[in-house]
Amino acid sequence: MAKVKTQYVCQNCGYNSPRYLGRCPNCGNWNTLVEEIQKKETSTSKVATQPRITLGGSRIQPELLDKVAVHETPRVKTELLELNRVLGGGIVPGSLVLIGGDPGIGKSTLLLQVSGQLAHKHGRVLYVSGEESATQIKMRADRLDVGGDEFYLYPETDMTAIKENISQLKPDYVIIDSVQTMQEPEMSSAVGSVAQIREVTADLMQLAKTNGITVFVVGHVTKGGAIAGPKILEHMVDTVLYFEGDQQRTYRILRAVKNRFGSTNEIGIFEMRTSGLTEVTNPSELFLEERLQGATGSAVVVSLEGTRPILVELQALVTPTSFGNAKRTTTGLDHNRVSLIMAVLEKRAGLLLQNQDAYLKAAGGVKLDEPAIDLALAVSLVSSYRDQETRQSDCFIGELGLTGEVRSVTHIEQRVMEAAKIGFKRVFVPQNNLGDWQVPTNIEVVGVKTLNQALKLAFGER
Ligand SMILES: Nc1ncnc2c1ncn2[C@@H]1O[C@H](COP(=O)(O)OP(=O)(O)O)[C@@H](O)[C@H]1O
Ligand SMILES: [Mg+2]
Repeated sequence: MAKVKTQYVCQNCGYNSPRYLGRCPNCGNWNTLVEEIQKKETSTSKVATQPRITLGGSRIQPELLDKVAVHETPRVKTELLELNRVLGGGIVPGSLVLIGGDPGIGKSTLLLQVSGQLAHKHGRVLYVSGEESATQIKMRADRLDVGGDEFYLYPETDMTAIKENISQLKPDYVIIDSVQTMQEPEMSSAVGSVAQIREVTADLMQLAKTNGITVFVVGHVTKGGAIAGPKILEHMVDTVLYFEGDQQRTYRILRAVKNRFGSTNEIGIFEMRTSGLTEVTNPSELFLEERLQGATGSAVVVSLEGTRPILVELQALVTPTSFGNAKRTTTGLDHNRVSLIMAVLEKRAGLLLQNQDAYLKAAGGVKLDEPAIDLALAVSLVSSYRDQETRQSDCFIGELGLTGEVRSVTHIEQRVMEAAKIGFKRVFVPQNNLGDWQVPTNIEVVGVKTLNQALKLAFGER
């Protein structure tokens, strides 16, 4: 095997050095040199001057936009409809998909289940694991009832060996679990380092694009929540999915952060069971399951996750501050948004909140961050502050402005439909959102212009 040379390249100015230097002699920055596999000099200059040749042998030429033929990308549909939707309608053959998430969230479980389905129906699967032995994976596969004639397991971390095996086995799908455990043996950088991860990903990208193999890559997440490794990893791949959820709870959310073949607004919701991940087709019911009858400090909002409306209970607990400054604590909600709404309540609705601690939470462990939840947040705060409940069958949609006005939100029709479907009897919406859309007959739609008007209607005259 020919010895591949590596070099160290400054990530700031591009300076090359044959050995590692702590400080770049060119731009003077510290710790910017990262190991890279040295590319042959000649090939780049040739590519630049000669026209590229397609597989059919014809030269690639500029084309008129109007004349470009559009081929609908064929999609491979898995049995997990939630996954198909997040991917934009199914798996695109020859694409590279990165799945990130906290340890233990279920990345390996998801990919093992998907592999089983693919191996049954759609082709040969090679599952490369750098983290678990074949026995461990087999045990999990038995628990999940995953199998298939075309399903190969391969516990390996050496990229050269992996590439050799791929060229012999010719799989249609390759799973790499995880990118941080794989290594290019030519490089002296440590496994899991920026340099290694980048070369491994570049290799996988080439595999996917030249052989039409679909590659799923698992990526670990750092403490801060980003996929460990350089941001460039996310730029290189076609699709980036994040698998999120609470370790303590059973449901998981799969979210597209980047997708070259579809929208990034979609989410898929799963439940983790002993038998594996199952789809949750009606998330609103799941999130409202444990709602307490007649409790104060609770309000339901119809939030939009992608194109999908979800009903979530927002909870507030307002108690007098016993010592020092008033505390504001949020779970699943944006701290700034809560501060702003509390200030609006204080100024526009006359609530004295500055000597009150406030704890706010989106129940069920979901994360909500959209303006339409403002009104429900305000209602839950007022409800706890006054110790007065709202009607169990009410829900609230609307953004709050600083002057106490209720501002219109997007997709109002879908939100109201979902509320009606779950059985809510009354929904508060921004006045400006009323108009030419079909109001379901089994729900009362109340248009409100201001926060005070909404509070009066929700809690009765005071
Ligand atoms: N025997 C078991 N029965 C039920 N659930 C299990 C069992 N073993 C593992 N799990 C679930 O699977 C999860 C681990 O999933 P895994 O796919 O290995 O996560 P990741 O690959 O993201 O680290 C655990 O957090 C646990 O919830
Ligand atoms: Mg795993």
